Amino acid sequence: MQNSSSLETGWTLVVAIAQNGVIGRDGDLPWRLSSDLKRFKQMTMGHCLLMGRKTYESIGRPLPGRQTIVLSRSEFDSGKAEVKVCSALGQVDACVESGRSVMVVGGSQIYRASMDWCDTILLTRVLVDVDGDTVFPEVDWSDWLLESEEELPAGDKDEYSTAFQIWNRVRRRA
Ligand SMILES: NC(=O)c1ccc[n+]([C@@H]2O[C@H](COP(=O)([O-])OP(=O)(O)OC[C@H]3O[C@@H](n4cnc5c(N)ncnc54)[C@H](OP(=O)(O)O)[C@@H]3O)[C@@H](O)[C@H]2O)c1
Repeated sequence: MQNSSSLETGWTLVVAIAQNGVIGRDGDLPWRLSSDLKRFKQMTMGHCLLMGRKTYESIGRPLPGRQTIVLSRSEFDSGKAEVKVCSALGQVDACVESGRSVMVVGGSQIYRASMDWCDTILLTRVLVDVDGDTVFPEVDWSDWLLESEEELPAGDKDEYSTAFQIWNRVRRRA
């Protein structure tokens, strides 16, 4: 096993996953979780959000206070000068503005493609099975160590209870 310092890429994956692995439905999130959106805002503020073209279109605009990089192999044009488009993960680091960390924020295709590039996962477990058409890719959790976990009962504006976990990579496969 490698020591953790040699595993650091500086990329962090941020995701909310239902108990049955679902992360999306009809191009949107399958839940209303105000507390989680607040935490997402706090965690990502000032950083660089890396997202797939479909997730960007679902959000519909760059989120304030953060850089947005969209991954697309097509001729996608957001119409916003501040939104950068990359056609491959290898182009991303060169586009990140100084002082910002890369936070991979979905969706499923981008999580799958970038998993090996990430050394931290900020994971909201949504404590319910939900219907949906998009799932989080398979993860070998033996490559990851749970650093912390916090259970959060549903607040007034949350549909479900959640548990927030921080995972750090302990092994990167060749
Ligand atoms: N629960 C959560 O935390 C969470 C977070 C984010 C999103 N979501 C949900 O996830 C769903 C969307 O996920 P999705 O998997 O369908 O779409 P996605 O990953 O957001 O976007 C897919 C698009 O990204 C581009 N792409 C994919 N792999 C690429 C690569 N290796 N290099 C360059 N471009 C690449 C392609 O764009 P082109 O077709 O333009 O080439 C592809 O069509 C929505 O329901 C959304 O709400 C959930």
